[in-house]
Amino acid sequence: MSEIRKTPLQSLKGMEDILPSEVSLWQEVERRFREVFQSFNFEEIRTPVLEPIELFKRSIGEETDIVAKEMFAFKDRGDRDLALRPEMTASVVRSLIQHRLWERAKNFGLFYWGPMYRAERPQKGRKREFYQAGCELFGTSHPYQDVLLITLLVSLLKSIGLEKYELKINHLGTLEERKKYFEVLKSYLESYRASLSPDSQKRLETNILRIFDSKIENDLRITEGAPKLLDFLGEKSQGELNVIEAELKKLGIAYRLEPRIVRGLDYYSGFVFEAVHPSLGAQDAIGGGGRYDQLVENLGGPALGASGFSLGIERILMSLEGDGQSLLNIKPLVYFASLSPDYFGALHSLRCRIAALGFRTEANSLEPSLKKQLAQASKLSAQVTVILGEDEMKKDIVLMKDMTTGTQKETAFDKIEETLREMMGK
Ligand code: HAM
Repeated sequence: MSEIRKTPLQSLKGMEDILPSEVSLWQEVERRFREVFQSFNFEEIRTPVLEPIELFKRSIGEETDIVAKEMFAFKDRGDRDLALRPEMTASVVRSLIQHRLWERAKNFGLFYWGPMYRAERPQKGRKREFYQAGCELFGTSHPYQDVLLITLLVSLLKSIGLEKYELKINHLGTLEERKKYFEVLKSYLESYRASLSPDSQKRLETNILRIFDSKIENDLRITEGAPKLLDFLGEKSQGELNVIEAELKKLGIAYRLEPRIVRGLDYYSGFVFEAVHPSLGAQDAIGGGGRYDQLVENLGGPALGASGFSLGIERILMSLEGDGQSLLNIKPLVYFASLSPDYFGALHSLRCRIAALGFRTEANSLEPSLKKQLAQASKLSAQVTVILGEDEMKKDIVLMKDMTTGTQKETAFDKIEETLREMMGK
């Protein structure tokens, strides 16, 4: 084989392996999130990662960064234009329409967990393959639904002990309200055109609201003094915001009204929100969402009120580190060691018996030195080591060593389970 063939291959840029040492944490977050989604009576939906590109163009919007610059898009062998999903809302709505899911119930919530793909420039907290947990609530446009979603978001974060985040809310108004606002905003920004960053200058033409997303200092200074969309809200939109704010206060949910939250996807139509975590730096949004009442109809379904949000799992895990929280509740380990290779057989059948009882177990394979086996047990952070030796075998007992205190005691074969439970406090 040539040298080049032997060069080890790497995963793609921005796409990372989740290694065995990290997987338990991922599973624990997923388990807790599922429990919370279920307690709000949301059902899980799974959709393909590959969709017709048209779906994302028609929902997220052709002019958005996600669609214009960040999609993994390609033609398949049948010359069809496809894209890896950059998010799930479009796919969920596609599926809802395809399977007439709205006929099952008047109001219903769906949740999901899975990988999304965006060809962004990778940096801390920004990857090309990343996981989202999210949900979509269909049926009505009542602001109570938005309050329910915020409560759900807060419950999800609480379930994993994430505390130091901030919730920001905003209202994007109706199409007409936005149109009026855009005229005023445009004439304000035009007067600063030359000082705006090249990206923001482009957005003046294509997607003016996104100028608020710019992180460039001078852009920030200019937008700081810009007219606010909130001042252009009509009676209905303002009324919705009032209800939401009053309900959040009643529920004791802290939030900040933040006119800068404009969201980067075109389908939003009213109330929007984001959760940010201060430990994350530039990419500080751990989740976001909002109302998108026109999307189902625009994609060929009935007029159906809808809103939802998604959480970025990698960023949530990074925030947990920032919060100093450890979720890991891994079962303590029982290690099986033997004084001589003669007892490997007995040791392995004992290990199988104890593993079958639900204990997390590991056993020596062929290492004859007890010292090295005990060192291995310590390295694996075993809580108890069960040791088999000649004397013990003759008397049908084992030695059980508490790896924290170093004390050991003899235990009869048929008392091992009981003693383990005592030693492990369960
Ligand atoms: P989004 O704000 O684009 O919304 O993404 C939601 C979350 O996904 C972000 O707050 C962030 O935590 C995470 N995220 C986004 N891009 C990346 C990336 N490149 N690397 C790591 N994490 C990332 C949506 O996707 C909407 N579908 C939310 C929604 C649901 N709206 C209504 N329903």
